[in-house]
Amino acid sequence: MTEKLGFGVDIGGSGIKGGVVDLETGELVGERFKVDTPQPSTPQACAQVAREVIDHFSWEGPVGITVPAVVTNGIVRSAANIAPEWIGTDANALFGSTLDRPVTVLNDADAAGLAEDRYGAGRDFDGVILLLTLGTGIGSALIYRGTLVPNTEFGHIEVDGKEAEHRAASSVKERRGWSYEKWAGQVSRVIREYERLIWPDLIIVGGGISRKADKWVPLLDVRTQVIAAKLLNTAGIVGAAQAARSR
Ligand code: BGC
Repeated sequence: MTEKLGFGVDIGGSGIKGGVVDLETGELVGERFKVDTPQPSTPQACAQVAREVIDHFSWEGPVGITVPAVVTNGIVRSAANIAPEWIGTDANALFGSTLDRPVTVLNDADAAGLAEDRYGAGRDFDGVILLLTLGTGIGSALIYRGTLVPNTEFGHIEVDGKEAEHRAASSVKERRGWSYEKWAGQVSRVIREYERLIWPDLIIVGGGISRKADKWVPLLDVRTQVIAAKLLNTAGIVGAAQAARSR
């Protein structure tokens, strides 16, 4: 029974969430548990909260953990929307010792992409999938036939002189008080640049605002089929658990 279960922790700018995942279905077993992200969101403070989240479930096995940053070989390499102390942090060592178990650390959008590809909106799709998470920043995952190219960071591609995430993250819409129409114009601009450079066959949009996808996806003026993510606020947790399993 426990063989098919895994555990994922999703570290975000506002919350640190975790849950037990059924790796056959990609569904959570029981509730998702969320604790506010500590401020400042330093690596040590977040690792302590991750421990609290895992202890809440009395989970004893390996865990997968997402961070909103580039992660290569367990080392965090960037910190666009988190505390700068993360840069250079050996996340494998930090979480491994704080949590006292094997850990797999990966980028948040990469985790969401893995989960959507296997269990969600990309399931059974044969072609290049680009997943975009639209939130505080823009996260990206590029997947082809189940294989992820990690750390794509397309949110930082410059589009007409401005970083994509500064143009079209959902936080920009909120901050500026834009309508869906106005914001969709910016998202289209960014996606057209991705189309020009990557030629995806399917774009999956995730992040909190994908819950209202029917309000803005139809307004997009792009070539590629765009569909909303299905796992919504569990994609990061599920993808983290998947990554830990396939490690
Ligand atoms: C970061 C990415 C992250 C994305 C979504 C970007 O600012 O550079 O690593 O995936 O935000 O959290």
